[in-house]
Amino acid sequence: MAGQAFAFDPAQWLSSLDEDGFHTMRTLGDARGVAAGFVIHETAQWFGGQRVPSQAITALVVAAHLRRQQLGHELLLHQLREAREAKVPLSVLFASSPTFYRQHGYEPAGTSTWFRVPSHALPTAPDGAEFVPFTPDDHAPAHELYRRFASERAGLLDRNVHFWRMHLRPYDNSRRHSYRIDFAGVPEGYVCFQHAQPNRTLVVDDVVTTSTRAARAALALMSHHKAVCDFVLFAEGPQGPLRKLIPGNEARLEPPGKEWLLRLTDVARSLELRGYPLLDARLELDVADATLPDNAGRYVLELREGKPVVSRGGSGKIRVDVRGLAAIYSSFSHPSEVLAAGLLDAEPADVARLGAVFAGPAPFVLDTF
Ligand SMILES: CC(C)(COP(=O)(O)OP(=O)(O)OC[C@H]1O[C@@H](n2cnc3c(N)ncnc32)[C@H](O)[C@@H]1OP(=O)(O)O)[C@@H](O)C(=O)NCCC(=O)NCCS
Repeated sequence: MAGQAFAFDPAQWLSSLDEDGFHTMRTLGDARGVAAGFVIHETAQWFGGQRVPSQAITALVVAAHLRRQQLGHELLLHQLREAREAKVPLSVLFASSPTFYRQHGYEPAGTSTWFRVPSHALPTAPDGAEFVPFTPDDHAPAHELYRRFASERAGLLDRNVHFWRMHLRPYDNSRRHSYRIDFAGVPEGYVCFQHAQPNRTLVVDDVVTTSTRAARAALALMSHHKAVCDFVLFAEGPQGPLRKLIPGNEARLEPPGKEWLLRLTDVARSLELRGYPLLDARLELDVADATLPDNAGRYVLELREGKPVVSRGGSGKIRVDVRGLAAIYSSFSHPSEVLAAGLLDAEPADVARLGAVFAGPAPFVLDTF
């Protein structure tokens, strides 16, 4: 069903499910067979330096002849309740039908962006870096680098085995080449790429750097392919650093830029678990959630030097739809933008307070699911 809906050969995908285990799959059916299903990847996302458990949902599909009979709705509702019961406060997905998901409390809350740059425009000096090839069996330092990189940003996944495999040894068997960037024997970044021929493009689908010199060195390693690649395509958050280190305005956003949608399946836990700026603040929320009524209602978020305490109750003077709260939570939308879209109703002082409490780096992910 997924192969038919998304126009791909399901054989390889099924082999990846074998490796992940079929416990990740949920289906809806009756005596006549399976009518709908999807796959869950248990992960977490970083917000404010803290890891918040999240379920990444992929390949939600209803059999073509059974669509628009509320089966998708049934299945998604089950997933949201299951997540809530399992105390997983976030659900994240890329949507080919955003309307359907927004009806269930999801809202765009971050991006996945790629940039294209002519290879001759890249800086070429490795700044004293040593490039050390590594294999999927020897990638513990890359894990550590990724974790440091992700925890200082917003939205990035805490990758499990599945997500690492997708980067280093993907099930479509495309070959990846991975290099650590060391300075005096200490890893400060890594680059993982494939050659796309005949397009003469180097596709860098995982590049992580934890210092400015490592970012420059990563660009230099890419530039060293200019004899065989006219262009380099790299995945990066909307605010760099790689793009900012390329002279001129030579790195251009590659269409289509994608947005991911976030759902707060447990408002209290999601507020408790994320990190915040070192502020004192009190927010009295009244959350509307038509899909998960248990999740709706009044909450107080009290911060003391950034440490959160969440309780039920309060005046509820900040009225917010759970969709609007997801976009604010991830730092994707400023509350004033959510207010303009009719998903928030609050006094100007509370709008400003919300903005300060949820301020953070532009949220993005480097994974596809
Ligand atoms: C998207 C999908 C899962 C929805 O499941 P479904 O069982 O057909 O949807 P439901 O009957 O539960 O729909 C509930 C409501 O969601 C909305 N909706 C559903 N599919 C929609 C679509 N493709 N576009 C816009 N709105 C949609 C409608 O408002 C619908 O109510 P209505 O039929 O009374 O207008 C299903 O259509 C499908 O498998 N599509 C192909 C694969 C796909 O795009 N999956 C999403 C992957 S991210």
